[in-house]
Amino acid sequence: MAATFENRRAIVTGAAHGIGKATALRLGRQGASVIVADLDQSALSETAAELRELGAQCDTFAVDVANRQEVASMVEHTVTTLGGVDILVANAGIMDREPFLEMSDKLWDRVLSVNLKGVFLCGQEVARQMVTQGTGGKIINLASNSGIFGGRGRAAYGASKAAIINLTQTMAIELAEHQILVNAVAPGATRTRAVSGEVPAPSVYNRAPLQRFADADEIAAMICFAASDDCTFTTGHVLPADGGFTIAGVMEG
Ligand SMILES: NC(=O)c1ccc[n+]([C@@H]2O[C@H](COP(=O)([O-])OP(=O)(O)OC[C@H]3O[C@@H](n4cnc5c(N)ncnc54)[C@H](O)[C@@H]3O)[C@@H](O)[C@H]2O)c1
Repeated sequence: MAATFENRRAIVTGAAHGIGKATALRLGRQGASVIVADLDQSALSETAAELRELGAQCDTFAVDVANRQEVASMVEHTVTTLGGVDILVANAGIMDREPFLEMSDKLWDRVLSVNLKGVFLCGQEVARQMVTQGTGGKIINLASNSGIFGGRGRAAYGASKAAIINLTQTMAIELAEHQILVNAVAPGATRTRAVSGEVPAPSVYNRAPLQRFADADEIAAMICFAASDDCTFTTGHVLPADGGFTIAGVMEG
């Protein structure tokens, strides 16, 4: 496999599990040095061990992405360890759901804090470092189909992901002069510990032409395109990796 990320330094948040872990491993396999960051330190050590087995330089960092000081320390640690940062994958997120009529302030605040404020804090701290370095960079924020369409139980989650899409557009506009490209990746139903079952729920299964879950590595592949040197003229967009879910209309012939 081509060493697409040789000499690139990446931070992946939420890298202990799922899409973040698959992305860290894909980046590492293709030559990047990676700081893997997450709340879950024991699972994070397993990601790091797998990265080292691949021969990738890496380190772990325990972070709550909703905490400014911890996020700032994560970037400082990256600069100390790797000498700088070229790629941020702002992936950490929670999918807690509750019906709208029963939704508590606590769930609303937590989901918005981790998903949306987390992307803001990580993006701002990393972008400031990239501006100081003066060599541009790539930022990829994790959105969702739930940020494009309404969905049952997803008042907080969907709002957080819709806001990430708009935040991505504004970041792309303001950071373009620094050659920092910012895109969002919107996965469809992806098999991780957060999503269970053999096949997606009927409303997904009957609509998405590919009629299956994505594997986390299939989402990582799209993230890695947006992080790569092949992505030079795409910024501010939502890149779908959704089995066709967002293009489908009437599905009966
Ligand atoms: N799995 C899907 O079907 C799907 C679909 C659309 C979007 N997404 C998005 O993709 C991203 C990854 O989802 P996943 O399915 O891999 O989930 P996951 O639960 O498997 O992994 C999420 C990771 O984020 C970490 N995390 C949670 N809160 C954190 C915090 N405050 N600070 C640091 N780390 C934190 C968790 O410990 C975990 O390792 C999320 O942003 C999610 O919303 C997932």
